[in-house]
Amino acid sequence: MNFVLHRTAHTALLAASFLAIAACTTLTDTPPADPQKMIDERVAVMKSYIGALSASTQYTQDKATAAAAKAKVAAARNGVAAARSLFPRGTALGDRGVARSRALSTIFANRADFDAKFDALAANFAALDAALAKNAKADATAALASTKKACLVCHDKYRAPED
Ligand code: HEC
Repeated sequence: MNFVLHRTAHTALLAASFLAIAACTTLTDTPPADPQKMIDERVAVMKSYIGALSASTQYTQDKATAAAAKAKVAAARNGVAAARSLFPRGTALGDRGVARSRALSTIFANRADFDAKFDALAANFAALDAALAKNAKADATAALASTKKACLVCHDKYRAPED
């Protein structure tokens, strides 16, 4: 009896996770009704990354406390998952309803690579966060440099030059 109950719960869980996966696929494959709104949202998230980098730079130059920088980095870390979900198909430069964007449509043909670049960014922010938590300036300086590289490596490939 117990076994049967267990199996049923397991099947329900499995079904739920398949549904969740289906929902994710839909999210990245169906263009949103208002692409520009989504673009503006992700640009705002990306701008919070700049705040995290500046606060961390100030910390490494003795112009801000580790705690102040850590607060900004924590917010930016939350923003990585958010930004990742804000790049569905139909939200790049040249897509219908897109007035302003620097996102290249090659993102959609290279989704796994694009997502891996977000994963790398998340890992770098985590290292920076850990260094700030320990108030370890040399570690924070190294993590900051490597975080900036994670930004550039994605921008170089998937963001159009400024016009
Ligand atoms: C996985 C790819 C990726 C990573 C990693 C990434 N960005 Fe971006 N970023 C983009 C894309 C694509 C755009 C263009 C979005 C648009 O205009 O629709 C963008 C836009 C921006 C913008 C908006 C203003 C502008 O000039 O386009 C800022 C600011 C920005 N990124 C900062 C950063 C910083 C700082 C980091 C690292 C801490 C970072 N980004 C990491 C892909 C990325």
